[in-house]
Amino acid sequence: MTELLGRPAADWIAEQGLPLHLTSLPRIRENVRAFTRVFRDLYPRGAVRYAVKACAHPVLLAAIRAEGAGADVASPFEARMALQAGLDPRTLDLNGNCKEDELIREALASRMLIVADSAEELALVEATARAMGRRARVLLRLSGFHLGGVTGEAIFTAGPWSKFGIPLAEIPPLLENLGAYPSVRFLGFHTHIGSQITRVEPYLAVLGRMVELGRVLRDRTGACPVLNLGGGFPVNYLEEPAWDELRRRTAARDGFSWNLGLAGLDADGVWQGEAYHSPWPKEQMVEAILRGTVTVDGEALPVLRALESLDTPELLVEPGRAIAEDAGLTLCRVAHVRRAGGAHNLVTVEMGVLSHADAMLEGLPNRWDILEGPDDPEPFETFVAGNLCFSGDLLARFQTRLRRRPRRGDTLLIRDTGAYTAHFMASNANAYPRPPRLLVHGDGDVTVMKRRDRYEDLFA
Ligand SMILES: Cc1ncc(COP(=O)(O)O)c(C=O)c1O
Repeated sequence: MTELLGRPAADWIAEQGLPLHLTSLPRIRENVRAFTRVFRDLYPRGAVRYAVKACAHPVLLAAIRAEGAGADVASPFEARMALQAGLDPRTLDLNGNCKEDELIREALASRMLIVADSAEELALVEATARAMGRRARVLLRLSGFHLGGVTGEAIFTAGPWSKFGIPLAEIPPLLENLGAYPSVRFLGFHTHIGSQITRVEPYLAVLGRMVELGRVLRDRTGACPVLNLGGGFPVNYLEEPAWDELRRRTAARDGFSWNLGLAGLDADGVWQGEAYHSPWPKEQMVEAILRGTVTVDGEALPVLRALESLDTPELLVEPGRAIAEDAGLTLCRVAHVRRAGGAHNLVTVEMGVLSHADAMLEGLPNRWDILEGPDDPEPFETFVAGNLCFSGDLLARFQTRLRRRPRRGDTLLIRDTGAYTAHFMASNANAYPRPPRLLVHGDGDVTVMKRRDRYEDLFA
């Protein structure tokens, strides 16, 4: 009998019904610990700020606090949740490109670190702080980097066409004019390149630029005590051979990829969109960065030396996916096994893509399995679609390999569904209830992060 997070899968299903999302709290804690270990070993001035948007609940955030990490919050309720979980406001980064007036006031009152997303917002922070008689702690968020196709377009946040951050070209005049912001204490810079950044080079390019700007800031103010590299540390959805196979088979254009344009190969055979494998997954990317080399004012420097040259600033990172993704599992029930697109297999399940939104935004080839039953001699390759009334409702856009041909009523398991996936786009489309997510503690205790919607909730 298959066990999931310490209990027979059949018990979860009997008790909770399907579809169902589960999150392992011990795995979340291990993931945070892995990041803090890298910093302890290589750069003790480093610190983790968990990106709450990846998966949010006060109990989960209390565990983040217990691991000695802070948090990146980006909305009024994310901030409230972090405070409710007992996180010290001075360990909270306030991100977001449209911060509400009340949120800015709250951040100033409790002394959160405000990541100013635009010159306009900086002026607003200055005015609000002045009116409150406060001095704002501020990082300037940078964008306008030319980094090439480092990840999927929808989750690349630091390029020239970004709604986030202050374009690099606007930073030098701003640094000339710091006297215009007497109520702001400029502590340094922030860049969040995007999510699922699988190569180290973009981080090194951005970090080099931040050190250069940090030196200018230090010349103006006497110090640049904080640099924040954002999140984006990748998850290995596929091991290297499977990733190679996915690209090879997509290139063959034989229907391996449903390919509605989210990812795939362009006419020149160059992979477009995000990569599903990295040599440096999760905290290993931070290690690769700290062991890397950056160019600062034309000079190649080991990262640790470059940071030293800036008086060893605090180095913040904001991992979300790398903390929550592989802690999550999703279970759903098979409806039909049929054909689509000619000769291709299509399994339909009683769950829509809005409860597995990565598949819609990014096309991730998550790992699928059938819970029970013996293997067939030949595996069964198939696309997977959901139960909603639009054609984009595809949960597996790359053919996925199941141990056997499923049957109606079988349970499918999707791994790596802890971050964003289940809740980011969750809605009552087609008047379906949003599924529950349970947080499973190491001792078997369960926190209901989200209960299944009831009929009345559709109108709440
Ligand atoms: C400012 C900021 N920091 C961190 C993150 C977390 O990114 P990831 O989950 O890829 O680590 C995000 C994600 O959107 C973000 O916007």
